[in-house]
Amino acid sequence: MVRHVLRDDDLTPAEQAEVLDLAAQMKTDRFAHKPLAGPLSVALMFDKPSTRTRLSFEVGVAQLGGHPLVIDARSSQMGRGETIADTARVLSRYVEAVVWRTGDQSRIEELAGAASIPVINALTDQFHPCQVLADLLTIRERFGRTAGLTLTFLGDGANNMAHSLLIGGATAGVSVRVCAPEGFQPHPDYLRAAKERAAETGASVEVGTDPHAAVDGADVVVTDTWTSMGQESDGLDRVGPFRGMQVNAALMARAKPGAIALHCLPAHRGEEITDEILDAPDSAIWDEAENRLHVQKALLAWLLQKR
Ligand code: CP
Ligand code: NVA
Repeated sequence: MVRHVLRDDDLTPAEQAEVLDLAAQMKTDRFAHKPLAGPLSVALMFDKPSTRTRLSFEVGVAQLGGHPLVIDARSSQMGRGETIADTARVLSRYVEAVVWRTGDQSRIEELAGAASIPVINALTDQFHPCQVLADLLTIRERFGRTAGLTLTFLGDGANNMAHSLLIGGATAGVSVRVCAPEGFQPHPDYLRAAKERAAETGASVEVGTDPHAAVDGADVVVTDTWTSMGQESDGLDRVGPFRGMQVNAALMARAKPGAIALHCLPAHRGEEITDEILDAPDSAIWDEAENRLHVQKALLAWLLQKR
């Protein structure tokens, strides 16, 4: 049966570990694996802007021996009203897999429901599973493991990164704390899904509003923009309630010695994160960005093997 990765719990803990192992192997020799030789094609569709996701998938598919097709969905017939399901049926006749960055999660679920090829979520309003795989690979590289570590996310707890870190982190045995202002807390369904995963892996999941308590003793401190794509004019104050949540040197000093900071990027320097953290010589954030390439190649290869 065709498998999709639409959200972080579409991979079991064992499967997530397999993908991360494969990503680490692929990172050691980025031209050694050619599962898309032919070349086989992969569609990369974008309804929202992207630098890292677009480039890392495009480069990754080429490194796997395949042919990436980047499609700005607005300029396709979908932009003129062709249904998602009809698009899925047609794509399934041409390409081996489809990667989609879009808005509501229901859209990618609809695509996957009508596709006979694997579908990968390249960011929706609710989830960003590829980013969390990259975060987990970075954590493995820095700490030699994921299980038993504590990760604190500070910022908009209702955004895609918070949800994916909750569920994907718990899948990896990472205890996840989300610190978000009132009114910006994670969706209860996704919190429940994370708790279910945490119960399986021995991790824990907590939500709070106090940044100091949340960071105290953390191994990994993560933040993201306070205004995600599409929220620019939602009428909410996306600065004031978040000010105390900035990831800066003073906040990092409360984490465990040797703790790392992560950010999916793009960063809003001076808002959710400071220059001193981003530009620190041992910053893990640039490895995190590179790791998008390796985990996405591994995910594609893994999904194609499962067909
Ligand atoms: N982190 C991330 O997904 O970056 P892009 O929006 O540039 O793809
Ligand atoms: N939460 C951010 C992530 C960007 C990669 C957004 O959705 O805009």
